[in-house]
Amino acid sequence: MTDISTFMTTDHKSCDNTFVEFENAIAAENWSELTVSWKLFSKQLAHHFKMEETVLFPEFESATGMTQGPTAVMRAEHEQMRGLITEIETAIEDKDADQCQGVADTLMIMIQQHNMKEEQMLYPMADQHVDSNQVIASMKSIL
Ligand SMILES: [Fe+2]
Ligand SMILES: [Fe+2]
Repeated sequence: MTDISTFMTTDHKSCDNTFVEFENAIAAENWSELTVSWKLFSKQLAHHFKMEETVLFPEFESATGMTQGPTAVMRAEHEQMRGLITEIETAIEDKDADQCQGVADTLMIMIQQHNMKEEQMLYPMADQHVDSNQVIASMKSIL
């Protein structure tokens, strides 16, 4: 049996690995590789956010009654990250490697801080309060 912490931390690592490929492509100014790795990363991250926002966070909120707590902070941070994602997409369209690198560095720091909060606080709390198996099954059904 796997728990929410393990399942979601594994998904964070998978996103991180693709992000490293993207950063390497920026450093090499390899635009075809950069476009491929960016599309994959943005798709993986959007899917991760969707699992959290449509399954995990609502389940956490209804189980704990906490709607203005950690999930509200996490949702707000997802919005900030979506803003950076839009900036990176513009930089890719403009083939502006410096801008791409700059925003990617900011996004990387934000993701690391965000993921640490989820892994150290939100996911363990979720495992204590919700039916982990059922929530994981619901998240796995998210396309
Ligand atoms: Fe998140
Ligand atoms: Fe997450």
